[in-house]
Amino acid sequence: MNSNPKHYLVTGGAGFIGSHLSEKLIAGGNRITVIDDLSTGDIHNLDAIIEHPQFNIIIGSVLDSDLMEPLVRNCDAIFHLASAVGVKLIMARPVETIEKIFDGTAVVFKYAARYRKKVLITSTSEVYGKSKDVPFKEDGDRVEGSTAMHRWAYACAKSLDEFLALAHAKESELPVVVVRLFNTVGPRQAAAYGMVIPNLIGAALKGLPLNVHGDGKQTRCFCHVADVVEALCKLMTDKKCEAKVINIGSSDEISILELAGKIIKLTNSKSEIKLVPYEQVYPNGGFEDMQRRVPSIERIKGLIGWQPQKNLDDIIRGVAEEISEKLKLKI
Ligand SMILES: NC(=O)c1ccc[n+]([C@@H]2O[C@H](COP(=O)([O-])OP(=O)(O)OC[C@H]3O[C@@H](n4cnc5c(N)ncnc54)[C@H](O)[C@@H]3O)[C@@H](O)[C@H]2O)c1
Repeated sequence: MNSNPKHYLVTGGAGFIGSHLSEKLIAGGNRITVIDDLSTGDIHNLDAIIEHPQFNIIIGSVLDSDLMEPLVRNCDAIFHLASAVGVKLIMARPVETIEKIFDGTAVVFKYAARYRKKVLITSTSEVYGKSKDVPFKEDGDRVEGSTAMHRWAYACAKSLDEFLALAHAKESELPVVVVRLFNTVGPRQAAAYGMVIPNLIGAALKGLPLNVHGDGKQTRCFCHVADVVEALCKLMTDKKCEAKVINIGSSDEISILELAGKIIKLTNSKSEIKLVPYEQVYPNGGFEDMQRRVPSIERIKGLIGWQPQKNLDDIIRGVAEEISEKLKLKI
């Protein structure tokens, strides 16, 4: 049992990663307050803990400064996950993306700095942009495309979050941790915002074509959410990790075409793979893809001895089980 329980504020705690994180923190004997505007999150993600006496949820936005002030004042430390998320959303609503990400983080830090609360923020592998320096190391260059390409708005807003966090660490020694999450997957990840694994598995289970964007040769590395939240909890409590940028991800690389083939095999699906040109997926333009996205996990291994435990086959089977349960309910 946790000898030093804390009261954590989890922004975006009704989301995919936030809900798994909140469950783990509660199981560790901590007290949790979640703030979530339910824009992409779902209250049912918290079904397992919503009645727990140590759990509280506020439905509202991190952009609401008056609401945030007492929440930050009354907690011990903050996991800041609330953000606009998902390529589809970012392409469709770029203004909201930029404002939500950066303005929300600014509110969090305004009060965290005032009340001296530790903050861990979840940035993204997108900040490496078009860098070809694979595997991506935390101190490597960021190579982002033109501002006419809306997709880079997400990366830029998240980069600015990182700058703000590190500036607070430097100027006033506020304890901060910046993590860059690579593709995180597992149960509860919503398909609606363009996430590849739930989309492809959903199609395979329904017998629909698996739409693979571009030529499918672009690669990604997928890490199970249970491994990710394990890392987040350790990074928050280990002082060595303060004022650092730290990658979290799997280093097992797979092309999206191979991924689609694996999903068809593991779900015994009769579906076919369909290549869809990017111009068809994003007819208004503004999109270019990253070919490879592989993390170096040397830093996190050295700091806390972490590496992913679950492999891609386990991940696919778990998500397929969850989606087929949901599909049965809807029939
Ligand atoms: N899932 C991934 O692969 C991945 C990869 C890189 C980074 N991240 C980062 O991890 C974090 C969590 O992402 P996720 O995958 O769980 O997505 P998610 O959409 O499930 O979670 C985000 C949560 O934030 C909430 N939210 C959004 N704006 C808010 C606001 N203004 N106020 C309060 N709540 C708000 C949403 O309702 C949602 O519950 C995000 O910061 C995201 O950028 C995720």
